[in-house]
Amino acid sequence: MKFRKILDEINPYVPGKSTEEIQNKYNIESIIKLASNENPYGCSKEVQKCFTNIDIEIYPDNDCSKLRKLLSKKYNIEEDELIFGGGSVEIISMIAQILIEQNDEVITCTPSFSSYYSATKLMNGKLIEVQLKDNVFDLQGIKNKITDRTKLIYIANPNNPTGTIITEDEQRNFIEGIPQNIMVVLDEAYYEFVTDKNYPESINFLKQHDNIIILRTFSKAYGLAGLRIGYGVASKKIIEQLNKVRNPFNVSTLAQDAAHMALSDVDFLKMVVNNNNQVLEYMYKELDKLNISYISSQANFIMINVKTSGAKFAEKLLERGFIVRPGFPLMDNYIRVSIGTIEQMRQFIKVLAILINEERD
Ligand SMILES: Cc1ncc(COP(=O)(O)O)c(C=O)c1O
Repeated sequence: MKFRKILDEINPYVPGKSTEEIQNKYNIESIIKLASNENPYGCSKEVQKCFTNIDIEIYPDNDCSKLRKLLSKKYNIEEDELIFGGGSVEIISMIAQILIEQNDEVITCTPSFSSYYSATKLMNGKLIEVQLKDNVFDLQGIKNKITDRTKLIYIANPNNPTGTIITEDEQRNFIEGIPQNIMVVLDEAYYEFVTDKNYPESINFLKQHDNIIILRTFSKAYGLAGLRIGYGVASKKIIEQLNKVRNPFNVSTLAQDAAHMALSDVDFLKMVVNNNNQVLEYMYKELDKLNISYISSQANFIMINVKTSGAKFAEKLLERGFIVRPGFPLMDNYIRVSIGTIEQMRQFIKVLAILINEERD
C-alpha cells in the first residue's frame, strides 16, 4: 500500500490528555483539566432540554436552517453568508481545500493553532511561518512574506496559545494593505471572551472586503465542545465554494439544536465571560505575588513562563492532578493553562507555588 507522500510530514492532532488517562496513570481521584480551553461552567441549562427531544433516526438538516436564520438575524447578514462545520476546525480544512494548489503559499504565525499547519500541508501547500512579535501576531512580518504565490493567511484573534489580540486598526490596515486576491481567515474562536475595546468587530469588515472569512465556535464560551459545531461568515461567493467540499450532513441534529438554544441564553454567556474575567484577574494577582511571569490574555487561558522546561513542569503538575498544555514551538518554557473556576484556580496556584519554589531552590 502506498499512502500519499505528504502524510510522512503530518502528525495526528494531539489533544490535551483526558482525565481518565491521568486517573489511571497516576492513580489520583481528583483531576483538574486545564488543557483544552473548555468551559468549566458546562453549558446553558436550556441546552440540556434538547437532549430528551430529538429524532436521531433521521439525517440532520443539511443547511442548519434554524440556526442559520438565528445567526443571520443576530449579525444582520444574509443567510447564505454562513457555513457550519463540525467545530470550526472542519471549516479550517475546508478553506484549505478550496484554495490551495500544490506549492501555493500560506502564511501564519508561530506558535498558533496547529490545524492551520496540518490543513495546509495536507493540500501540498507551502507553509510560511512568521514568529510572533512580542507574543502578538506579527502582521507586518506576514506582509513582508507575501509573494505572487501567497493564497491564504490564517490569523487567530485572540491567538492560541498566547491569548493576545490584534486591534481593529491593525486588522483594517493589514487587510487594506494586501492584495485582495489573498484570502484572510480571521479565526475568532475566543471572540466572546475579549474585553479589550480595541478588538475588531470583524463582521463589519465583510461589507468592504470579500477576501475574508471569519470563524467562530460554540466549543468555548458556549460550552458545546463535545457536540462539535462552529461556523464561518464570508461572502456568498466564498460560501458557495466551501459548500462544494463540505461533507453532507456534517453537523449533527443535536449540535444544531444545542447551538440554537445556547444562543438564546444570554445570561449563561454573560456569567461565563464575567467569571472568566474575574478569575483571570485573580490569576494575574497571584502570579504577580509569586513573581511568575505570564502573558496577559483576552481569552480563557493564560500562558505562564515557568522558566524551565514546560514539558517537564507539566509532567510534575500531572502527578499532582493538573492537566495543562506545554510544548508550543519557540515557547519551550511556557505552559498554557485554561482558566477554570475560581476554586480550581486556587488549588492550581497552591500547587504552582510549591513547584516553582522547588525549581528556584
Ligand atoms: C484558535 C482556535 N481555532 C479553532 C479551534 C477549533 O475549535 P472547534 O473546532 O472546537 O470549533 C480552536 C480550538 O482550540 C482554537 O484554539
